[in-house]
Amino acid sequence: MAPINIVVIGGSFAGLHIAHSVLRDVPDAKVTLINPSTSFYWNIAAPRIVAKPTAFRPDQYLLPIKDAFASYRADAFEFIPGTATAIETTAKTVSVRPNEGDAKILPYDYLVIASGSTTSATDGSLTGTPIPFKQSNHDDMERLIKAAQGHIAEAKEIVIGGAGPIGIELAGELAEVAEQSGNAGKVSITIVSATDRVLPMLKPSASSAARKMLEHKKVKVLTSKRVAGVEAEHGANWTVNLEGGDKLSADLYIPTTGVTPNNSFIPAQLLDRDGWVTVSKEMRVQSTDGTKLPIFAAGDITNNSMRLSFKAVEQAQVAAANLKAEIVGGAAIKTYAQGDSIMMVVPIGESGGTGQVFGIVPFSFMVKMIKGKHYFLDKAPGAVAGKA
Ligand SMILES: Cc1cc2nc3c(=O)[nH]c(=O)nc-3n(C[C@H](O)[C@H](O)[C@H](O)COP(=O)(O)OP(=O)(O)OC[C@H]3O[C@@H](n4cnc5c(N)ncnc54)[C@H](O)[C@@H]3O)c2cc1C
Ligand SMILES: *[C@@H]1O[C@H](CO)[C@@H](O)[C@H](O)[C@H]1NC(C)=O
Ligand SMILES: *[C@@H]1O[C@H](CO)[C@@H](O)[C@H](O)[C@H]1NC(C)=O
Repeated sequence: MAPINIVVIGGSFAGLHIAHSVLRDVPDAKVTLINPSTSFYWNIAAPRIVAKPTAFRPDQYLLPIKDAFASYRADAFEFIPGTATAIETTAKTVSVRPNEGDAKILPYDYLVIASGSTTSATDGSLTGTPIPFKQSNHDDMERLIKAAQGHIAEAKEIVIGGAGPIGIELAGELAEVAEQSGNAGKVSITIVSATDRVLPMLKPSASSAARKMLEHKKVKVLTSKRVAGVEAEHGANWTVNLEGGDKLSADLYIPTTGVTPNNSFIPAQLLDRDGWVTVSKEMRVQSTDGTKLPIFAAGDITNNSMRLSFKAVEQAQVAAANLKAEIVGGAAIKTYAQGDSIMMVVPIGESGGTGQVFGIVPFSFMVKMIKGKHYFLDKAPGAVAGKA
């Protein structure tokens, strides 16, 4: 019997989970996984990785993708390091630009879109200095991370745009580096928030706890100030223009707001107005023309608004179950609802932090115990093995 071709675009939290799930449970499946980087990136720890080059080893946060699939039959799995460039829903093909060699066209019986999202810091589009908060579009993560660590270590005046969890975590790590190296006061760290409090998605007591901890670490916190634009002279000497006319100078500006869908290869009829892939609660991709497609999606790329890694895995579990049911000829068996409860733990350096868990703002020492010590690094092997 000819194998059933399942093509998975994106090798991160969602895509890896689905690829493993299908391989484990569908004997005649052939899974082809496409991802530009040959390693999975534990980006949850990115704020500490870029600020503290020796805190973790690269082999702890960059895990080879291919090795994680070594236990399956050789003809059941193929990893193509590369980028999907187009989807033809009528012909049921995906065009791929491999990192090496000629472009390919892959036929599929089922397709999984798990191409996630990126941030403007990651591609350096705004500042020319990529700060890899996400996987890049090349197989160059280790080099990019080293370069970012170098830029950050040299900077004396750092401005962080945005006071969501990434901005707050990064400010905490950078301030701690300055403290530990005796440079507190010599390195200036400013965080600019458009909202009237930092971490606006959390309870006000979490916001004030975060602000207090940052200010204690000599971080300047500006609230109700929106970054209107940035300018650089010769790629350095930044001027950060704030709405209302104030200006900040910086030798490094790091934007932490905004997520962009990785959708350049996805047909427009599968996207909502903002560019996210429209999915039903069964995680099946919905086309504006109403055709039923053998395409599922999961994770940040979908129109579900909570773009968090554990939500990506929850969506992947639903997508995988329904995809497997469809392959063996059954009806959809699971649905996803993101709910409205906020689960967020935000370390501010190694010694504490804040957040919101089941409606409660955790004590600082609990944040240290839960996430502050290691940024969940011990969960990375499970994620790449599809066991998360
Ligand atoms: C700095 C930072 C810290 C975070 N911390 C937390 C946290 O503490 N807790 C939490 O729950 N969430 C956190 N998140 C959010 C979390 O990173 C995302 O929700 C998660 O990565 C989504 O996983 P995903 O698999 O959907 O997509 P992504 O992780 O975005 O991965 C998508 C993959 O698809 C690949 N890809 C894209 N386009 C193509 C293409 N055309 N062809 C082939 N491959 C492609 C990409 O290279 C990438 O590998 C954080 C995010 C950032 C930026
Ligand atoms: C993800 O999207 C960003 C922004 O459009 C782009 O710069 C980046 O190359 C994309 N990544 C991949 C892997 O396609
Ligand atoms: C995503 O888009 C689909 C199709 O338009 C819609 O049915 C669904 O409700 C949307 N999901 C969310 C969470 O808004």
